[in-house]
Amino acid sequence: MSLHRIRPLSQLASFYLRPQCRSTHSKAYVTTPIYYVNAVPHIGHLYSSVLADTLTRYYALKGADAFLCTGTDEHGLKIQQAAAKNNVSPVELCNKVSESFKALCNAANVNYTAFMRTTDENHKKAVATLWGELEKNGYIYKGKHEGWYAVSDEAFYASNQVQEVVDEKTGEKYMVAIESGQRVEWTNEENYKFKLSAFQDKLLEWIDSNPTAIVPSNRRNEVVSWIQGGLADLSVSRLRSRLDWGIPVSSDQDHTIYVWLDALTNYLTAAGYPWKDPSNNKIWPADIHVVGKDIVRFHAIYWPAFLMAANLPLPKQILAHAHWTMNKQKMSKSKGNVVDPFELMNVYGADAVRYFLVRDGGLADDGDFSESNMIKRYKDLAGQLGNLLSRSTGTALNPDAMVPAAPQGPVDTRDQALHKKLTQVAGEYEQAFEAREFNKALSTVFDLLSEANKHFTDNEPWVLAKDPSQKERLDQVIYYAIESCRVAGTLLQPVMPVKMNELLSRIGVDDDKRTLKYAATQSIDARPLGPASSVLFPRLKK
Ligand code: ME8
Ligand code: MG
Repeated sequence: MSLHRIRPLSQLASFYLRPQCRSTHSKAYVTTPIYYVNAVPHIGHLYSSVLADTLTRYYALKGADAFLCTGTDEHGLKIQQAAAKNNVSPVELCNKVSESFKALCNAANVNYTAFMRTTDENHKKAVATLWGELEKNGYIYKGKHEGWYAVSDEAFYASNQVQEVVDEKTGEKYMVAIESGQRVEWTNEENYKFKLSAFQDKLLEWIDSNPTAIVPSNRRNEVVSWIQGGLADLSVSRLRSRLDWGIPVSSDQDHTIYVWLDALTNYLTAAGYPWKDPSNNKIWPADIHVVGKDIVRFHAIYWPAFLMAANLPLPKQILAHAHWTMNKQKMSKSKGNVVDPFELMNVYGADAVRYFLVRDGGLADDGDFSESNMIKRYKDLAGQLGNLLSRSTGTALNPDAMVPAAPQGPVDTRDQALHKKLTQVAGEYEQAFEAREFNKALSTVFDLLSEANKHFTDNEPWVLAKDPSQKERLDQVIYYAIESCRVAGTLLQPVMPVKMNELLSRIGVDDDKRTLKYAATQSIDARPLGPASSVLFPRLKK
């Protein structure tokens, strides 16, 4: 018989398992934005990717088939101009920068199932097919377009969405979009338009009947008020003479498809669109589009409207997070206040950086980046988790290298507070995750750990270890410490996959017993520790 047995649920004396822990998702398809290749990755990109990866791993922890799609957005004027400025061809620029976004995923253990590049042939086919559907269903017409365009945002703005500003240094006057602060230029051309105005009521109905379609609620309210303010039809092509770095309209080679229609379609391409047969569609609709607040309009208005027009199912949720700022200022290359994600991970390690980002990143409101907070979080990891693990598994207190069996009978009064936390934490964690309250999900785990550390200290196992008659109590104290590490380690896997894998292996947890269900189930029998590993969160060099 195996030493490591998890007691079947039906026999549980103490129920760790909450009803909501039962998996309801059989598949989860999560996406990140696809990033522009005009600039190298920064901490904001890493944040979106880590949040999306954490969510994907969370659904896998619940037993779902989980898919993560990320990639690069390679067409459009912005890229065409950036390439020209750098004296390289667009293709060269795309190949080079796309690699650095891939490298970022690898360095950060972002475990994508698909890395989309909009210059890939299968994507071009998907975009052409979607365009064909919109056309066939009568939502595309040729019309005159006049208005403001921001190349930086690749977005059109109406006259009431722009304002004049004066350059402090040169005195030059120019127009910017109020929303993004980006410079706009006047454009006047004949192009293809999409009947966005036809979707005003349908979009409001969708949002109304799906309260969690756009989260957090401040973003949802913003979207509702934009729609209520009226939706004008949208230009969805540019003249090829102005923009040739893009996918041509198949029926009219003088036009290039608008880069946002192109880019948004990547979520379908990754799902295998166009499907020969609808039964070949295994993962669309997306369960969660993770995006930044700067691109909510495209994801929560344009994208659902395109999908409705093509009779395709809508994404279940758009999760729009706020931004990281630096000294309360927007991070930007021109201000020189951009944090290099590679450098940060070099110093603190990928998992600690991931933990910091998910724990402290702004969801509804912007979060300010500070290295001292990063250090504080690192020290929590070392002090609360690393330390508990090394003390409870070290030879001083655990010479037999065993995880003792769970204490039998009624719970000792000295263990009750910790025992209760152990029974509750997985349920609370899951509730917080489902509500997209990432900070709360993690703080419930750290509340457990601080209770476990207190329990350890209060029970003075180093005193018990000196007295052979106290062996049983020593085992109980060690059991609770390791059981706390097991439950916390299991729950922290989505955010710190590599370190938690080390931790769970060190305490002898079988690979197939690392899911949410097991975090909600008390481990009963004794088992041997796994091989000793190096310190989980070593002391920082600086
Ligand atoms: O908009 N804080 O790409 P992009 C947090 N290609 N997140 C940030 C951030 C910050 N300071 N700065 C950027 C595009 N981000 C389009 C997307 S999707 C079909 C096409 C993150 O390279 C955030 O997720 O400008 C934001 O939405 C995204 O990077 C923008 O990346
Ligand atoms: Mg941007």
